[in-house]
Amino acid sequence: MSTVTRSTALITGASSGIGAAYAERLAARGHDLILVARRGDRLEKLASELTGTHGIAVQTVAADLASADGLRQVADILTADASIDMLINNAGVARLGATADLDMEALDSMLAINITALTRLSRAALPGFIARNRGTIVNIGSVMAINASPITSAYGGSKAYVLLFTRGLQEELKETAVRVQAVLPAGVATEIYDGTIMPLDQIPADLVMDVDTMVDAALAGLDSGETITFPSVGDADLWTKYAAASDTLFAASQTGTPAPRYGV
Ligand SMILES: NC(=O)c1ccc[n+]([C@@H]2O[C@H](COP(=O)([O-])OP(=O)(O)OC[C@H]3O[C@@H](n4cnc5c(N)ncnc54)[C@H](OP(=O)(O)O)[C@@H]3O)[C@@H](O)[C@H]2O)c1
Repeated sequence: MSTVTRSTALITGASSGIGAAYAERLAARGHDLILVARRGDRLEKLASELTGTHGIAVQTVAADLASADGLRQVADILTADASIDMLINNAGVARLGATADLDMEALDSMLAINITALTRLSRAALPGFIARNRGTIVNIGSVMAINASPITSAYGGSKAYVLLFTRGLQEELKETAVRVQAVLPAGVATEIYDGTIMPLDQIPADLVMDVDTMVDAALAGLDSGETITFPSVGDADLWTKYAAASDTLFAASQTGTPAPRYGV
């Protein structure tokens, strides 16, 4: 009888870009996979390639994570399948532009995918991970979480949520072996830019990372125990300083009195 514990990674948004690259890299590491996205044909194609190349088991789930039914379907899998010990919350969309110009439905669905789905799927996975004291959640954020710009207010806001949600989970899970990593990429060459007001060919090529390289860096960060990973930032101490400044500002708010400059 085999004593090897199978490990299954569930990856959202695995039909292209960063999610597909995670699928390939995790398959190469021997994980079985559950691949989620709307385009089931692409998932099937990737699944048969990965099964053939790496001899792993791959399940595909064609689900729309912006819909209540799709989200419930994937959440139920996370709750029921005890072999899942890795959740890659990667599915995301970028609706870019001035907020007053954004299509309301597109805005709603972006928030549903980038925020609600990531939160609900984490919520679905966590009880099992905690009970087994084993599991990793990788939340794909963005450097736009820390940058205000006139075309990314809602997208950047959704990614700021991912960063703070992840940091809060890390605090919740401190006493467990369950790990949560936030990955904050800058530009990565994927389809996410297609049809936006900022197509990839308008971004200087030297500012854009190859998708496999980005995922390799993010996994190296995870392997080294990093909890907040900026794949393209050379000086890791910059995050330490940023987090410390944020802690200092928060501590300074705990006074119970208005600041003297308000004169009240
Ligand atoms: N590329 C970058 O420069 C960059 C930088 C920072 C962060 N990110 C983040 O990286 C993540 C992956 O994006 P990407 O760059 O790899 O873009 P991508 O190639 O467009 O991939 C997005 C993935 O999300 C899935 N998805 C979108 N809407 C969905 C829905 N309603 N239900 C289920 N799945 C859905 C897509 O699959 P279907 O269309 O088949 O559903 C696709 O697999 C996102 O969270 C993005 O915000 C990207």
